[in-house]
Amino acid sequence: MKSPQAMICLSTSPSISFLFYGLSILCVTSATVSASYGGNETDYLALLSFKSKITQDPYKVLTSWNHSFHFCDWAGISCGKRHKRVTALRLGSQGLEGSLSPHVGNLSFLRELDLGNNSFQGTIPHELALAGSK
Ligand SMILES: *[C@@H]1O[C@H](CO)[C@@H](O)[C@H](O)[C@H]1NC(C)=O
Ligand SMILES: *[C@@H]1O[C@H](CO)[C@@H](O)[C@H](O)[C@H]1NC(C)=O
Ligand SMILES: *[C@@H]1O[C@H](CO)[C@@H](O)[C@H](O)[C@H]1NC(C)=O
Ligand SMILES: *[C@@H]1O[C@H](CO)[C@@H](O)[C@H](O)[C@H]1NC(C)=O
Repeated sequence: MKSPQAMICLSTSPSISFLFYGLSILCVTSATVSASYGGNETDYLALLSFKSKITQDPYKVLTSWNHSFHFCDWAGISCGKRHKRVTALRLGSQGLEGSLSPHVGNLSFLRELDLGNNSFQGTIPHELALAGSK
């Protein structure tokens, strides 16, 4: 026959290990989420917004803009080596059509923007002019 103490031990240990299991899942999940924008969520969201305003991408240059890669490895993007912030967006002559997202103005480390020889419609968002004058 088992002693009452052994019974308690048996009944509590599964819930404790379940708690630890739950905690480790939480840690793994938050690490994965922050890795997907690798430091700066603002830059990541700005690039996603830029992509969402593109209506034509004949050479499929924006297909690499997906979750499989850090945004610093997306086509046409350059980042600072150390801080992993977007410093250049070079998508000239790609046959792109669409409008320019004002979120691009949130790329606060952007120094070079080459979107020449594409078909962007609408006005240049004033957020960009502000970013350029900084
Ligand atoms: C991303 O950059 C913005 C603007 O430079 C800053 O306000 C924000 O705190 C940064 N976020 C992270 C997670 O580094
Ligand atoms: C992500 O980009 C790579 C490189 O362009 C491509 O091979 C892959 O199919 C893309 N994945 C998705 C889900 O679009
Ligand atoms: C403009 O882009 C197209 C491709 O979309 C290319 O064939 C053409 O040579 C480019 N023109 C200039 C002047 O760069
Ligand atoms: C980025 O820019 C847009 C439009 O200029 C703005 O609405 C948004 O709040 C900005 N900030 C972030 C963190 O996306």
